[in-house]
This record gives sequence, C-alpha cells and structure tokens, in this order.
Amino acid sequence: MRLTPEQTQQFDRDGYVFLPGCFTPEEAALLRREADVVYSSDREEVWREKDGSTPRTAFAAHHYNEGFRRLGAHPRLIEPVEQVLDGKLYMHQYKVNAKAAFDGDVWQWHQDFGTWHRDDGMPEPRAMNIAVFLDDVTEFNGPLMFIPGSHRDGVFEAGHDLQSTSYPLWTLDKAKITELAERGGIVAPKGPAGSVIMFHGCLVHASSPNISPWGRTIVYLSLCEISNHITKFQRADWIAHRDFTPIEALDDDCLMDLVNSQRAAAAE
Ligand code: SIN
Ligand code: MN
Repeated sequence: MRLTPEQTQQFDRDGYVFLPGCFTPEEAALLRREADVVYSSDREEVWREKDGSTPRTAFAAHHYNEGFRRLGAHPRLIEPVEQVLDGKLYMHQYKVNAKAAFDGDVWQWHQDFGTWHRDDGMPEPRAMNIAVFLDDVTEFNGPLMFIPGSHRDGVFEAGHDLQSTSYPLWTLDKAKITELAERGGIVAPKGPAGSVIMFHGCLVHASSPNISPWGRTIVYLSLCEISNHITKFQRADWIAHRDFTPIEALDDDCLMDLVNSQRAAAAE
C-alpha cells in the first residue's frame, strides 16, 4: 500500500494522515481479543495506571504475542512508512495503549521524538508513529489530540514529568501549547476500529482521561529508518529496542490467516 500524492502533501503540511478502515472489523477484533490476553498477563512490559491494576500500556507485545508480531510487519503499515522515510525500517517502540473505561489516565502534551532524542539518542526525526485503533474512537473515550503543523519547528523545550501519571514523559508547558494551538488549532481524528493514523515524530499530541464506559485501545508502532538508529541504551530494551534488523513485510492476509487458524483450532 502506498500513500497518494494528496496524502503525502497532507502529511507534510499537517504532520499526520488519517486512514479510516485500513484494517477490517475482523482483523481489528482479533487484535482487540489479543490485547485482553496481553493485559491479563503478569509481565514487566505491561504497565499499570497509578491504581496499580488498570492496564495503561503494554510494551513490546510483538515479541510475545503472535497477532501483534504480525501487525508489526504488516504491509499496510510498513510500505507507506518506507515510502515516506525513504528506506528500510526497524521497530523502535511498540505499545498497546488501553485508555481503559472510566480509569484510563491522561497522556500529557508531548512530542515523541523529544523523548527518543533525549533519552535514547535518536539522531534525527526520521521515525514515524502509527496508531491502529482496536476500538471505535469517539469524542467520549479519550481520542488522541494533535496540533496540526506543530511538527515543523523541531524539538521544543520540555520538562521531565515524573508525577502526573505512572509513565515518565517529557512534556511541553502551557504557554507553548497555547501558542501552537492558537496557530494550528487542535484536531482529534475519530473513527471505527481498524482505522489508522500515521503521524510525524515531532507532532505535538496528548489525550484526556477516559471517563466514559467505553475503552479505547490503540496500538502504536514507532518505526525508525535503520541508519537513524538510537545511540543511547539507558531505557529497558523492551521500551527502546536495540535490534536494528530491517523489517521484511509479511503478506497482506497475515492477520486473516491467524483468524482462520484460531477458528479451525476452536472447531476441533
Ligand atoms: C502516546 O502519546 O504515546 C499515547 C497517547 C495515547 O494513547 O493517548
Ligand atoms: Mn506519544
């Protein structure tokens, strides 16, 4: 799959492109079931909210779950990112974020490349985030918010927030967010499970707590062009990966193959 010239123009201008219906309802439902399997496991990679029990994010699920392994090499994600970054890719980070019903907490305003650069020594913002919706994302369940165009000015000054949530993050201050939002506005792409957003590593984004009764699971792949690999190894290797082997895309039906083999196993 390749992005059209209009989509690449939109990406350059706004810092993101929204692809509703990139995955079918069946493919999304498979991964939604697998997310629950992952969250119910007792692994250090599964990070909880401050209450100590609600899942917040599961790191590196492509290493210990077959469905997420296949998603991490899916041609509908790998090919357009190879196109935009003009090279082969490795997986810098992989997260399955829960934003659980009622208890899913805030993600403060930040730029991902700010953290990758400061904490992991990633040289340039030649890395892309992909969000894959596993639930319907609505105005009620904490959609991802972006400031369009905020990717064009590089990395902003940030403070290391160790207090607000269970996850440390380099966050932007209120004055900078006000200035950027008055210039670019704020958008929150919403759509059915299976929708995808590709967004630039410098795009400023956040999400509110989820006080609705509907969970909002989103998988994030952070794909980096291989020559731009990280140079500092201070975070756990399941948070910032150190395997820079180029990803070879699988076949387009790799997720449906798994759905069919799970069905066959259940019928036995
Ligand atoms: C993130 O920015 O890494 C996560 C944001 C979210 O899931 O709301
Ligand atoms: Mn982020």
